[in-house]
Amino acid sequence: MSQTDKDNSSSRKMLVTSALPYANGPLHMGHLVEYIQSDIWVRFQKMRGHACTFVCADDAHGTAISLYAQKQGITPEASVAAVHEERMEDFRRFLVDFDNYHSTHSEENRTQVAAIYNCLKEKGHIVRRTITQAFDPVSKRFLADRYVKGTCPRCGAADQYGDNCESCSATYSPAELINPRSTVSGATPVERESEHLFFRLSDFSSVIRSWIDSGTIRQEIANKLSEWLDAGLQDWDISRDAPYFGFQIPGETDKYFYVWLDAPVGYMAAFRNLCDRTEGLDFDAFWKPDSDAELHHFIGKDIINFHCLFWPAMLSGAGYRTPTKVHVHGYLTINGEKMSKSRGTLIAARTWLDHLGPESLRYYYAARLSGRMEDLDLNTSDLVQRINSDLVGKLVNIASRNAGFITKRFDGRLSSTNAAPELLDACQQAAPLIASLYEELDFARAMRKVMSLADKANSWIDEVKPWVIARTPGEEDRLQAVCSVGINVFRLLMIYLAPVLPAMAKQAAGFLNTDSLRWDDSQTLLLDHSINTFTPLMKRIEQKQIDAVLEQARVEALSQQSTASSSPVAPAAASAVAGEKVARADEIGIDDFSRIDLRVARIVDAQPVEGADKLLRLTLDLDEGRTRTAFSGIRKAYQPQDLIGRHTLVVANLKPRRMRFGVSEVMVLTAGSGGENLWLVQPDAGARPGMPVS
Ligand code: 2FM
Ligand code: ZN
Repeated sequence: MSQTDKDNSSSRKMLVTSALPYANGPLHMGHLVEYIQSDIWVRFQKMRGHACTFVCADDAHGTAISLYAQKQGITPEASVAAVHEERMEDFRRFLVDFDNYHSTHSEENRTQVAAIYNCLKEKGHIVRRTITQAFDPVSKRFLADRYVKGTCPRCGAADQYGDNCESCSATYSPAELINPRSTVSGATPVERESEHLFFRLSDFSSVIRSWIDSGTIRQEIANKLSEWLDAGLQDWDISRDAPYFGFQIPGETDKYFYVWLDAPVGYMAAFRNLCDRTEGLDFDAFWKPDSDAELHHFIGKDIINFHCLFWPAMLSGAGYRTPTKVHVHGYLTINGEKMSKSRGTLIAARTWLDHLGPESLRYYYAARLSGRMEDLDLNTSDLVQRINSDLVGKLVNIASRNAGFITKRFDGRLSSTNAAPELLDACQQAAPLIASLYEELDFARAMRKVMSLADKANSWIDEVKPWVIARTPGEEDRLQAVCSVGINVFRLLMIYLAPVLPAMAKQAAGFLNTDSLRWDDSQTLLLDHSINTFTPLMKRIEQKQIDAVLEQARVEALSQQSTASSSPVAPAAASAVAGEKVARADEIGIDDFSRIDLRVARIVDAQPVEGADKLLRLTLDLDEGRTRTAFSGIRKAYQPQDLIGRHTLVVANLKPRRMRFGVSEVMVLTAGSGGENLWLVQPDAGARPGMPVS
């Protein structure tokens, strides 16, 4: 890494993390607030010449992850691996540039978690206690409160979670619910005792208090935490009984670490994994108690207790350093509303990218992020207006107004004269202020400052009117000098925006014929320097692109609801719901429907088809004493071996179709729009081959 700070002693060694996303579904716009915020901050630190390492990982353990895998009929390991690939691609496309993106389901994490636990245990911070918990007699697992639903014992509202009522806000235990049922199997839970392991958090009250008081978090959060500390800290239940997808607790039988114990340790594991393959990156130098490296965590406000109580306690109890700072952001709302799957306002990262580029979102989030914990609203008409006005109308316009003259009239050569020292000085002298705003995560003010400089530059250009000078004989030198000011302003502003708009900055560097845009480059000017031909750096965006994102999100939510239900989905309806344009099939009567012989089938074999990269040849058991063959276009969505043994639904009386590779005798039902985006329709556990579906 290059060292650009004038003062060498100010170079900082930093490890930055974003919260680890659960490996149970696609990334959405809410996740991106944090990944974009932390990526901007890290890019800024790197531009300043600091040795900054940015890591993250999938949060791969726990009940939610195993249920997600079970729904797809695959192992948790296979599900986690698939999610990992998808995520990496989403991060890459949103220009979120982790130095390492790892997984909590990794050997590094297993070893690190065990080391921390053993240390805490040796020092007497782990205790055992027997607790009573809801147990699902069918799925044979203990149920966390949110996996039990029933009628609120206080107000009678139906379908409430096991710990609190959304209707009247009462809190209670699952055993108090009226008609409780397990959301995993539908069975009535019973109460059962089990011995659990607890971490004695109260042993660390004074450690946490002084950590909080040392400027690690904003005052508003520190105040809240002080209240919790004053009320006294409870022991923390860190074990879960089998079956559980996670790490076995050393020295115990059928006990696993609770996902939240190994999740933050995943930060260390991701860094360890990077150190193991990076010369000169020393794990201990970052994690020993007297480390001179900074440790920064970016998180959302819902997980403050894990990062500001449990985590510093675990670290200090196990002989490691504690975090330098925890940066907390609020939630995302879209057009003033909470995102919600059922309302179709949960926008997947990919859905955005189907219609818009990553940098419009990065800039918008930057323009709305102040570093405080308040929620951020993605107002779609505001977004369109800001991108078009700020980036296209103000910023890119400065370059496009001047570049043509430089290219055509001066063969791409910038003047050696500074024709507007005052304007350029103002732009250069803004560097420390903008840097301190980035440092404080007040990106909104940083963006406003940059745009005020862009306004200043555009007003100056309006005044000097290069297009008039261009028509004035004998004013060649002045034209070159004036246009060179414009290009220089553009370059300075692009340097300041590079953490937010890295792809555009790279393209601008190509146009400006410079190697890079480092922060300190803002203190130099490009005089007597050749530039390349200008190509438009950003296009205006249209409201209809945003409308298309919202509409697609709505359709995707609908399609997920239909695949999540266990009722059969007729193929026409399934593909219509998932497709980009919803074309409703003509209505059919119940008689028409009953002519379709829908049946449960078991996949006994699945093989790739040579010469057809989208197809799998499935051998299906319909309990008829013989098997049937189907050619199904699901090869991009499934590994053949993962399908064997699964149940699915087929149209059994479809006229056999002769294909190039053989005869397809039945049709397998899938949901989704095609390619990787396809899901087999699967009956609930218990359905047998040959059962009719109605
Ligand atoms: O709340 C969440 O989404 C968690 N998966 C965050 C984990 S952050 C860290 F501690 F691992
Ligand atoms: Zn209630």
